[in-house]
Amino acid sequence: MLQDLRNKNKKISVVGLGYVGLPIALEFGRKFSVVGFDIDAKRIESLKQKADAGDEVKKDAFENTNVFFTTDANELMNCAFHIVAVPTPVDEHRVPDLSPLISATKTVGKILKKGDYVIYESTVYPGCTEDICLPLLEELSGLKLNADFKLGYSPERINPGDVQHTLMNVIKIVSGSDDEALENIAAIYSEIVQPGVYKASSLKVAEAAKILENTQRDLNIALMNELSIILDRMNVSTHEVIEAAGTKWNFHKYHPGLVGGHCIGVDPYYLTYKSIQLGYEPEVILSGRKVNDNMALYVARRCLQKLIEAGKNLKDSKILVMGITFKENVTDIRNSKVADLINELKSFGLHVDVVDPNVTNEEVQHEYQFELLDNVREKYDAIIVAVAHKEYIVLNEDYFLDHATENCLLIDIKGIYRNKIEKLSYWTL
Ligand SMILES: NC(=O)c1ccc[n+]([C@@H]2O[C@H](COP(=O)([O-])OP(=O)(O)OC[C@H]3O[C@@H](n4cnc5c(N)ncnc54)[C@H](O)[C@@H]3O)[C@@H](O)[C@H]2O)c1
Repeated sequence: MLQDLRNKNKKISVVGLGYVGLPIALEFGRKFSVVGFDIDAKRIESLKQKADAGDEVKKDAFENTNVFFTTDANELMNCAFHIVAVPTPVDEHRVPDLSPLISATKTVGKILKKGDYVIYESTVYPGCTEDICLPLLEELSGLKLNADFKLGYSPERINPGDVQHTLMNVIKIVSGSDDEALENIAAIYSEIVQPGVYKASSLKVAEAAKILENTQRDLNIALMNELSIILDRMNVSTHEVIEAAGTKWNFHKYHPGLVGGHCIGVDPYYLTYKSIQLGYEPEVILSGRKVNDNMALYVARRCLQKLIEAGKNLKDSKILVMGITFKENVTDIRNSKVADLINELKSFGLHVDVVDPNVTNEEVQHEYQFELLDNVREKYDAIIVAVAHKEYIVLNEDYFLDHATENCLLIDIKGIYRNKIEKLSYWTL
């Protein structure tokens, strides 16, 4: 397979060109011929113009790469190594929504031919690729696994907004449906991943490893969030406690905060869903999720309490929220817990203004049906810095004082202004 790809006798297809799929398509496109397929015609149009709407991938990354962007599934027929990177969200009941994965699998199943490979990159629970995707591929293609085509799973580790840990410079886990598949998949990914690949012994191990990475992070943050709720009642700074504890050799530093986005706050539910199906009710993982999911409401409640303590009339109070993206220095507002915080404050009748340098009013209106200001115009009774964007890290107390009413409260969720605020009333997790 690798030789055929090198000779351009065979092509790679990437199905789903979002955060994960686009960098894969572009990187493979530097060595091989790639077809990049997506159902979103608007996205394909902008990718043809070398523009990534999310701005994670810069224009120069599109240079010297051989990717044919298309919405035409027939183009996949000319490809032999198919990579699927479509979303795996949860629904409103926090149950895995596999519809994009199933739909993409059907697309691939219909054009699958003898000798082809199908590699899944979407985050799923252990067993999902073999239990849900494989039967569809076999049924729609009339082909048999391993005898006719090979299957693989290779989870993605990219981290939105992080230019250091990219597809090319972080070890990538690969797995295959048999030894031959594993060797070929490993050889092909090794072409683009500089530190090389880790060969997992099965697809399930690779699937579970990805879920574990994100579940561990979720739980560690949940622990710090719970600690922060406890320490707040004692008027003890969580950040100082973490700093002190961090001097021990085996302490892992995590910080409290809002856990949004479509990975850390979602992936654990894939594992718990499967666990419950298997008859085991997970306790630790779901407790952590509950703590993290409630943090936005906790911050809103503390804000209200602090406003009352400061003698403010809630009905007349004006709040400024700075940052609405799900994390710092990204443009993505989907699954942002800041939106929960804003909605909670609004439910008490407070006037809430929102700003974010990375987002447009249209995007916020579309996703959350509230307005985003392009500028801070008023004076506020509380200012909540919800996201540690680089534009916010450089601000000092004078900036906030310019926009503060008397007795204004500064809520610094991420603790970026710790020890720098003297005049304003200050609170952090
Ligand atoms: N974003 C991350 O940082 C990250 C990191 C590791 C793993 N993952 C996982 O990778 C997978 C993809 O996530 P993402 O962030 O790239 O999603 P995304 O929402 O950024 O992009 C997904 C793309 O798939 C397209 N798509 C949806 N259904 C399709 C179909 N049936 N056929 C073809 N294209 C289709 C969408 O139009 C979209 O462009 C998910 O399982 C996610 O959990 C994401």
